[in-house]
Amino acid sequence: MKKSASTEKYDLQFASEVDKGLSEHPKHLPTRFIYDDEGSRLFEEIMRLPEYYLTRAEQEILSRYSGEIASILGREKFNLIELGAGNGEKTATLIKALLKEKKQFRYVPIDISVGAIDALRQDLGRQFGSLPIEGIHSDYFEGLRWIKEHSQRRNIVLFLGSNIGNFQLDHQHLFMQKLSQCLKPGDYLLIGFDLIKDYEVIRKAYFDPAGVTARFNLNLIRRINRELGANFNMDEMAYYSAYNPYKKRNEACVYSKCRQIIYMKANNKNYVLEAFEPVNTEYSYKYSIADTERMAAEYGFGAIAHFRDSRAFFTDALWLRK
Ligand code: AVJ
Repeated sequence: MKKSASTEKYDLQFASEVDKGLSEHPKHLPTRFIYDDEGSRLFEEIMRLPEYYLTRAEQEILSRYSGEIASILGREKFNLIELGAGNGEKTATLIKALLKEKKQFRYVPIDISVGAIDALRQDLGRQFGSLPIEGIHSDYFEGLRWIKEHSQRRNIVLFLGSNIGNFQLDHQHLFMQKLSQCLKPGDYLLIGFDLIKDYEVIRKAYFDPAGVTARFNLNLIRRINRELGANFNMDEMAYYSAYNPYKKRNEACVYSKCRQIIYMKANNKNYVLEAFEPVNTEYSYKYSIADTERMAAEYGFGAIAHFRDSRAFFTDALWLRK
């Protein structure tokens, strides 16, 4: 077999995770690769959808409780670290309250999208001129290393948006373990959880009639075509999503309406995609308050407070590292 001419131009991590996912049954793809610049832009569009309640619920929480959160944090300098920062709209609300309380801190947003980090630096820089901002372009696990290396100060880690819900359970466990190890007693974690609610409300949030969530998930396939030299026929690709109450998660997939043989240049391999064979792209886990408190205890935190929106759709839990 002829080897593809230039393996170097492909992201090998991306290629190997796609290869693994397309070789297993059922097939799946790595969720975090949805977020290139286009994926991040589509996620911003999702956040404005009437059906996608999560962002507005959390915005309500931060508008209402940022003052209270600020008053809990002490007087000494700290790092305000945000994992998976996104567009920082919600964070701006919290930062404003912290500055109003004369808190001294630097803001450290960590995101895998370069575009998102640049936009954040500009927007928040303009809004809060004197605030030191140190943006880091990396995935969560690399971001955790930064925390460990800068731990002279108290750390306040923000993990908002129910981003934790995207991890598979084993990954969620690994991540929480690592995060806990990186933090020291007295550090805080403000962590967002989407709460279990009417299944239909959840389903609609991930299967909007305007088709934005479909484009968001299918963006991963486009990206595989473009960056790994694959040849998915996009005209036949579709999106489906449903809430599974037994597993407490929304399950999203893409599928082809006809049988396709996919060739991928990056590793010079073929994959058979049967008609209507699901390819999982994303899970979004949902939690009860009891679930979150069990989690806090399991990883060495004390749950200090739950800040919920008026409909109790969402909680930002404040955890203290013990
Ligand atoms: C960014 C993980 C919180 O699961 O709700 C939104 C991503 N996917 N619509 C979520 C997402 C489809 C989102 N998180």
